[in-house]
Amino acid sequence: MERPFPTVAVVGLGTMGAGIAVAAARSGRRVIGVEAGPDAAARALARIEEATAHAVQRGRFTAEERTALLALISVGDRLEAAAEADLVIEEVPEQLELKREIFAELDRICPPETVLATGTTALSVTRIAAATARPDRVLGLHFFNPVHSMKLVEVVRTVLTSPQIAEQAAEFARELGKEPVAAGDRAGFVVNGLLFAYLNQAAAMYESRYATREDIDAAMRLGCGLPMGPLALLDLIGVDTARTVLEAMYEQSKDRLHAPAPILGQLVAAGLLGRKSGRGFYTYEAPGSSKVVADKVVATAAARAEGREVRSIGVCGSGTMATGIAEVFAKSGYRVLLAARSQDKADRAKAQLSKSLERSVAKGRLTEEQRQEALALVVPTGSYTELAEVDLVVEAVAEDLAVKRELFATLDKICKPGAVLATTTSSLPVISCATATSRPQDVIGMHFFNPAPAMKLVEVVSTVLTSADVTATVLESCAAVRKHPVECGDRAGFIVNALLFPYLNDAVRMLQEHYATVDDIDTAMKLGCGYPMGPFELLDVVGLDVSLTIEKVLHQEFREPGLAAAPLLEHLVAAGCLGRKTGRGFRDHARR
Ligand SMILES: NC(=O)c1ccc[n+]([C@@H]2O[C@H](COP(=O)([O-])OP(=O)(O)OC[C@H]3O[C@@H](n4cnc5c(N)ncnc54)[C@H](O)[C@@H]3O)[C@@H](O)[C@H]2O)c1
Repeated sequence: MERPFPTVAVVGLGTMGAGIAVAAARSGRRVIGVEAGPDAAARALARIEEATAHAVQRGRFTAEERTALLALISVGDRLEAAAEADLVIEEVPEQLELKREIFAELDRICPPETVLATGTTALSVTRIAAATARPDRVLGLHFFNPVHSMKLVEVVRTVLTSPQIAEQAAEFARELGKEPVAAGDRAGFVVNGLLFAYLNQAAAMYESRYATREDIDAAMRLGCGLPMGPLALLDLIGVDTARTVLEAMYEQSKDRLHAPAPILGQLVAAGLLGRKSGRGFYTYEAPGSSKVVADKVVATAAARAEGREVRSIGVCGSGTMATGIAEVFAKSGYRVLLAARSQDKADRAKAQLSKSLERSVAKGRLTEEQRQEALALVVPTGSYTELAEVDLVVEAVAEDLAVKRELFATLDKICKPGAVLATTTSSLPVISCATATSRPQDVIGMHFFNPAPAMKLVEVVSTVLTSADVTATVLESCAAVRKHPVECGDRAGFIVNALLFPYLNDAVRMLQEHYATVDDIDTAMKLGCGYPMGPFELLDVVGLDVSLTIEKVLHQEFREPGLAAAPLLEHLVAAGCLGRKTGRGFRDHARR
């Protein structure tokens, strides 16, 4: 293919336009910048000069490269100058009528072959294209902020956009060092379509006081490895912008999960737009600052009860979670009774634990001496009666309510009064474990993440009957083993799964509707949001059957139509495609 679009015009040189102008000039293209008036043009040029000087300081390019690059950029205030461009990229503020007017003008000014692209985030590309007589040559080019570091570009085709033009635009993005993904014209495209629904649920979760803002954010960072928590991200994006994007998404989808959470409207009405106004979900040192400062919301946190003393731990089970949890406590110096259904199973679990400790030594995370100390603290047993003396029991047996209730009934008979009984369940109600005992006030959820030795998060789930000192005991125990506890109530999904799985389900629906491909969706979320894995990579790792179970539990609990598991997920599970463990899920993992 010939080098596409040797001359590019950028209309509107604000945050996005200035960045795109620089990126296009860096690829050796001539850039014609257009601003709204002579003053705005002068300011835009100054902004570009400043940004490129900063880039030289940071070592992103040399002073010579900067001079060459600036020589390629001209900035003026006449739209007619765009007539010389092969591609015009519009980056004016997000207002439909303004964009339509500019496209109508460009259509009149530019030769018929010129390609016109809009930088819109949430407006309909189709409606913008309809302002011209060349909708086949109109498309969306959605860059991400800041343009110099974000590698993703969504190339948005309407039903009328010519496939060749879209391919040329994708090639243009590649020449700018970006990774293009193909998307159709739907509010939010791929990235924001998936991201904002999740942000909205996090805002609603906070609004319902299910968990604190700090706990919601920590849960998603530590439980899913996301670069930022959802409420901190809403503050960064701007609460007003987020609300506008969600409104546009709801307008098209009529999905209640896209209807902006009422709290977003309240914050906007109060002028609390996030970092830019100095306050949103959090309070910042000053408008524009990223430094969070204490505010009343934190100051009014209730005084905590005192926890019970915990010196010895019992762990029930012999699988991955039980072994990992036993390791966590032993490494922090606790005596751990590892109780399984038979002595043999318990011994094998301890052998697994020993191997894991050896790996830590090999990686230099543990000394040989520490390994031996930790190992000596773990006593495997095939008899639950030995749990009579422990202070805290953590149960990690099969995810089956009947099995867990039977175990809790047994623990109730064996354990000493005052012992704290915790379940690690991820999808069963903690209260159903509690009511199998005569002491539901001592029962609580401790939801560890896999692998337990590495993952810092523990969701501490109190039921309506859990006593305050039991919650305090578990919070203190988490801190003692260097885990980060977050508190929440006993409802489906707790914090992490209730926010994560609807997002994964949305990704499956996007695929099912042929809106974008597995690879494009995964790439978009990794590059657009800095996620460690794309949704389909994650589903294949977690297991499609496990994911389906969690989605069904969430749907059953909240009865929200938007939470119903995507039929494609059910079909894959029915076909035995369960992800990595069976060699095939959304991708084929079979060895070649
Ligand atoms: N900021 C982001 O994070 C981001 C990310 C992706 C996409 N977008 C989208 O990119 C587009 C631009 O957003 P932005 O954040 O750069 O906005 P901005 O407000 O920083 O910049 C807009 C610029 O357009 C200029 N302008 C206004 N009217 C004009 C006209 N008639 N002719 C020429 N120039 C005009 C303004 O003077 C201003 O410099 C919007 O559609 C936005 O939704 C923004």
